[in-house]
Amino acid sequence: MGFLPFFSLETWILLITFCCIFVMYGHWTYGVFEKLGIPGPKPKMYFGTVGRMNPVFYIEDSLLAQKYGKVWGMYELRKPVLAVMDPDVLKIVLIKECLTHFTNRRNLRLNGDLSDAVSIAEDDQWRKIRSVLSPYFSSGRMKEMFNIMKHHSHKLTVKLQSSLANNDVINVKEFFGPYSMDIMISIGFGGDMDFINNPSCPLLTLVSAIINIYLFSVSGCFPVVLPLLELLGVSFFSRTTTGHFKKIVEKFRAERKGSSHQVWNITIIIFLMLNRDSSITVNGPRGEKQNQGLSDSEIVSQLTMFAMAGYETSAITLTFLAYNLARNPEITKRLQEEIDTTFPSKGPVQYEALMQMEYLDAVIKESLRLSPPIPRLERQAKETVKINDLTIPKDMIVMIPVYALHRDPELWPEPEEFKPERFSKENKDSINPYTYLPFGMGPRNCLGMRFALLLVKLALVEVLQKFSFSVCKETMIPLKMDASGILGPLHPIKLKLEPRSTDSEHVDK
Ligand code: HEM
Repeated sequence: MGFLPFFSLETWILLITFCCIFVMYGHWTYGVFEKLGIPGPKPKMYFGTVGRMNPVFYIEDSLLAQKYGKVWGMYELRKPVLAVMDPDVLKIVLIKECLTHFTNRRNLRLNGDLSDAVSIAEDDQWRKIRSVLSPYFSSGRMKEMFNIMKHHSHKLTVKLQSSLANNDVINVKEFFGPYSMDIMISIGFGGDMDFINNPSCPLLTLVSAIINIYLFSVSGCFPVVLPLLELLGVSFFSRTTTGHFKKIVEKFRAERKGSSHQVWNITIIIFLMLNRDSSITVNGPRGEKQNQGLSDSEIVSQLTMFAMAGYETSAITLTFLAYNLARNPEITKRLQEEIDTTFPSKGPVQYEALMQMEYLDAVIKESLRLSPPIPRLERQAKETVKINDLTIPKDMIVMIPVYALHRDPELWPEPEEFKPERFSKENKDSINPYTYLPFGMGPRNCLGMRFALLLVKLALVEVLQKFSFSVCKETMIPLKMDASGILGPLHPIKLKLEPRSTDSEHVDK
C-alpha cells in the first residue's frame, strides 16, 4: 500500500469513478436476451460473445445453432444481435414485413461517400435507388451483357492455357478474381481494364481493401464515439478507392458532353444512368413523385458498390466451384458430359442453351449451399414486432445465419457432402425456400443475382470445355477458413489444371 500516498484523494475518486464507468459501460447492453427469455452464450465485458466457440464467425453460428436451436441471442462486442433460423419467422422478416418493419440493414453510420449506395441507403431513398437500378438487371439486359462477358471468359481460358506452359498447379482465385473484376468494370463503366493480363493493377487491390476492419472493432466497442468520427468525416470505406471510381464517372460525364448519344453502348450501366434525366419526375412505388435519374454522387456510389458487392462474391463462388469439382471427379465428368452435349465439339456457348442446363444449375446451387459468399444476412427492426411467440424489440438486429442454415443436418442430410442432386428437378421442390439463401430473399435480396449467375455459368462452362481441375499435394483438405470479411479460405486454393482433348475445338470470341 506504499503507493497510496502518491495520489491525492481527488485523483483516487476520479480513478475509481472511471473504472466503475468503464466496467458498467462494458456490460451496459447485456441482459436484453435474458429479459426476453431467449437463450444464448454468456457475454464477456466489451467482447460480448464473439469468437467464444470458434474464431470464424459463420462456423461459430453453426455451433451455436446446434447448442441453442433456431433462435438465440448473442452480443457482437456490445451490440445485441438476434439470430433466427426459423423459416416461418424468416418469411415474415424477409418478405411479409420487409417493407414495413424490416426494410433496412444495420446502419454502421461511418459510410462516407457510400451512404447513398443501394445496399446502405434506407427506406424511401433505398426504394427510389432500387427502382432505378432494377431494370438494369432484368433478364432482357442479361442477354445484352452476355457478349461482353464472353469477351472476358475467352480471355480467361486463353490465360489458363498459357499458365499450363509454366506450371499446372494454379492459385484459382488469381484467375477468377481478375475475370470477375474485368466484367464488373466493363459492364459498369465500359472500359476494358484487362485485369486478367494485369493482375497487379492497383484498382484490384484497392477494391479488396476498401473496408477498414479495425474501425469496425473500435466502433463496435465504443459506439459512443461514432457521432464524433462521423463529424470528422471518418469512413469505413477507403476514400482512395471511392475517389478512383469518382474520377472514372467524371471522365464519362465529360465525354458525354462532347459526343453524340448514339455512340454509347446500351449495355453499359454508367451510360444508362447518365442518360437518365435527373430533372424528370416519375411516379414512385407508392404513387409519390420522384426523380427519374440519379445524381452524379449517387451514380458513383452505385457503381463502386457493384464492384465491391460483385467482384469478391463472384470470384469466391467460382473458386469454391473449382475446389468442389476437383474433389469430386465423377461430378466433373457428369457436368462435362452435359456441357459437351449442349455445345457439341466445344462449340460457342449460347445464352439460351446455357440457361437451360439443369445439372450445371444444380452444381452451382450446391456449391453456394456449402460456401455461401455472404454467410449472414441482416435486417434491423424499425418497431417492436411480435412474430408467433418471439418478441423482436425496436432497433434489434435480426441476423440470419445463412451458413448455419445451409449446413443444418435436419435440413440437409450429410450436410458436409457435395451432392448436386439435392437440387435436381425431382428434389428441388422439397426444399423450403427460407432455408436456402445464398442471394438473400425478398425485396432487399441480391440485386445482381442474375448477373452473377450468368457470369459464373459462362466461366465454368468455357473453362470445363477445355480443362479439368483436380486436387494435388498443394491442395489444402479440409480448408482452413478466414475469420474476417466474406466467406473465404485462409490460404489460397491451389489445384491442378489439366487440359482436355482439343479435337475439333472452336475458338469463340
Ligand atoms: C455469386 C455472387 C453473389 C452473391 C452470392 C451475392 C449475395 C448477396 C447477398 C446474400 C446479398 C444480401 C441480400 C439480402 O440481404 O437479402 C446481396 C446484396 C446485394 N448484392 Fe449481391 N451477390 C453476388 C453478386 C452480386 C453482383 C455481381 C452484384 C452487382 C453487379 C451484386 C449486387 C448486390 C447489391 C447491390 C446488393 C444490395 C441490394 C439491396 O440492398 O437492395 N451482387 N448479394
